[in-house]
Amino acid sequence: RIGAMRAGGLALAVGGDRVARLLHRPWRRDPYPVYAELRAAQTRPGGGPVRSRIGITALATHASCEAVLRDRRFGVQPAGGGSRLGGRAAETGDGGSLLEPLDLSLLTLDPPDHTRLRRLAQPAFAPRRLAHYRTVAERVTGELLDAAVARSRTEGRFDLVRDLASPLPIAVISALLDVPEVDDERFARWGRALGTALDGVRSPTHARELADARTALRSMLAGLLDQRRADPGEDVLSALATAVDGDGATVDEALALAQLLLVAGFETTTNLIGNAVQALQRTPGHWAALAADPGLAAAAVEETLRFDPPVQLTARFAHEDLEVDGVPLRRDSGVLVLLAAANRDPAVHPDPDRFDLHREQAAPHLAFSGGVHYCLGAPLARLEGEVALRVLAERAPRLRLAGRAVPRVATVLRGPLSLPVTA
Ligand code: HEM
Repeated sequence: RIGAMRAGGLALAVGGDRVARLLHRPWRRDPYPVYAELRAAQTRPGGGPVRSRIGITALATHASCEAVLRDRRFGVQPAGGGSRLGGRAAETGDGGSLLEPLDLSLLTLDPPDHTRLRRLAQPAFAPRRLAHYRTVAERVTGELLDAAVARSRTEGRFDLVRDLASPLPIAVISALLDVPEVDDERFARWGRALGTALDGVRSPTHARELADARTALRSMLAGLLDQRRADPGEDVLSALATAVDGDGATVDEALALAQLLLVAGFETTTNLIGNAVQALQRTPGHWAALAADPGLAAAAVEETLRFDPPVQLTARFAHEDLEVDGVPLRRDSGVLVLLAAANRDPAVHPDPDRFDLHREQAAPHLAFSGGVHYCLGAPLARLEGEVALRVLAERAPRLRLAGRAVPRVATVLRGPLSLPVTA
């Protein structure tokens, strides 16, 4: 359904070969050696992109990933409308029917529908709106950290994810959709449930949980949409309500788009903040450097996006017979675009496995993807990451890790589920 989730589904479908190693638990904890292996196979003389047994091709260099993302001959759905997951997935039950509960709008649409709907959401990220979200992010980060630092004093530590990285994006998306504060908690619960779908649907029970969350969220958003039709404001739901009335979108399309903003903007940003603090803490001298100059927060965000991106991969389908990095691809075959592997490509990023706050960003990373699906929320994600790290460095300059992080064991999303720290 969703680029990323479909990517999870695709990965599940490859069964038993080199690409499938990305799914095995130890590699999901640290996938970077697998990416390096796939990249080495792709770039060695006479080599090429690694193809899994059922024909999915994994791309692990910056050049090939970027080329596919920008190439209009690829789409997020098969051109022929066939099974997205390939034969094996259908046989093993990982296929379409289990994925039905979620319609993730832009991520699953090709032009022209994609173009029309993306345009509707664009005003939510205009400079004036971003200035408003910055005010919200700064206020909320301050409040969250007041409580977290106080907890650190009494309990000796706090959880960076639970106490900052998770609630901050929810507060900002609530501002984006103008969701009343009283609904924040339910909003977060549904967002978290739906976010698990980014890594594929695990079982019928999981599919039912997703369907329940989707129904509840949808009814809340439908209520808000009705209210904005009667009394519009400046938020994105008001813009969607206007579009529905002007025949620019159906109610279903508007609701799916609003739901996507929650799912795409929530745990991705949580992971960004968690991965940044983890990398800054684990790399000698880096936290101290940020504490001495909190103005480095934006650079820390950028290097985290390159070094340990919250969204590790996405997927595309060839819409005609073509060639990728020297290998032929048949129409409708799937490609795994390994964004995190591209970000460690030594051809583009010297000494790529080193986290370096002072790195010259010579080449852009692919953490926000590329081409027509380039992350719509990128300016907002950067803003939230910058505010969170800057205020954290100001309020907790001696921050240290204080226990074992709990990693998320997943293929698409990457970041700690819990990160104990002491101020
Ligand atoms: C798309 C990453 C934060 C909204 C994407 C894609 C990636 C991505 C990789 C493209 C997937 C593909 O090409 O198949 C991230 C990361 C984030 C982040 C790493 C945080 C660090 C946000 C935020 C929002 C957001 C805060 C909004 C509140 C979207 C939307 C799309 C998207 C609407 C779909 C764009 C399209 O298909 O045209 N994001 N995202 N994202 N993101 Fe983000």
